[in-house]
Amino acid sequence: MDETPSEQSGARPVLRLTGVCRHYGGLRAVSDVSFEVASGERRAVIGPNGAGKTTLFKMISREEPTTKGRVEFLGRDITRMPAYRVAKLGLSRTYQITRVFPALSVLENVVLATQGLRPGRYQMFKAAMSNKALVEDSERAVEQVGLQRVTKTPAAELGHGEQRQLELGIALAQKPRLLLLDEPAAGLSAVERGMMRDLVKDLPDDMTLLLIEHDMELALGLADYVTCLHNGSQVAQGNPEEIKNNERVQDIYLGRGD
Ligand SMILES: Nc1ncnc2c1ncn2[C@@H]1O[C@H](COP(=O)(O)OP(=O)(O)OP(=O)(O)O)[C@@H](O)[C@H]1O
Ligand SMILES: [Mg+2]
Repeated sequence: MDETPSEQSGARPVLRLTGVCRHYGGLRAVSDVSFEVASGERRAVIGPNGAGKTTLFKMISREEPTTKGRVEFLGRDITRMPAYRVAKLGLSRTYQITRVFPALSVLENVVLATQGLRPGRYQMFKAAMSNKALVEDSERAVEQVGLQRVTKTPAAELGHGEQRQLELGIALAQKPRLLLLDEPAAGLSAVERGMMRDLVKDLPDDMTLLLIEHDMELALGLADYVTCLHNGSQVAQGNPEEIKNNERVQDIYLGRGD
């Protein structure tokens, strides 16, 4: 297998997975996955339903324990670190199913999510809304995801695409060093998908991204590098061109995989 971008550059990777496994009883949801993600790299994780993509994300963000193997983030072993500490180190993630507070406005959702990472995290919500720096940071994130016209709209009144944009805004407001996006375009219309693609494309160059995406074309268009999972195992790794031409990947996507 070719050297990954991070191995070529010799710089310390943002993320390093070494022989990572997650077993649920006898089921090997993720089996012996190893790869590195370099600073500023945009890597897609692809694979059919049940391949283990979300489980892999959960191990990285520490929502699920790692059965075996090692997860390093910014040079630190985070394999057993509590999720809140990993988030504080600069790891944010969005979810396959939208999670926002429906009764709160767009801006309030961002402020609420962000204040958890600041001193005085138990202060009253109202107090958070009068914290100027916090609100300004949140407004910037709202703008970054193109929701400035609906800042005061309750999240429940947003369209599905806008809710996903809001989720991205919440993650961005935390100024992550590594952003994990779990199918950001899932369930979106063609127009909304295009919008999400542009938002992800326009993220700062130095933001390191790990992206799960079912739509091969979208994934390959956004990523510098791709890891393909199947039945929990890593079956291919390469740049979009190599992945497109990879026979094993083609077999899996055409339903000829084992
Ligand atoms: N909490 C759990 N308990 C038992 N099995 C689980 C659990 N979570 C996931 N699995 C199983 O692990 C495997 C991988 O699931 P995972 O959600 O990681 O797949 P995925 O690649 O994200 O799929 P999709 O594309 O459908 O989102 C599946 O067989 C799934 O049923
Ligand atoms: Mg999933």
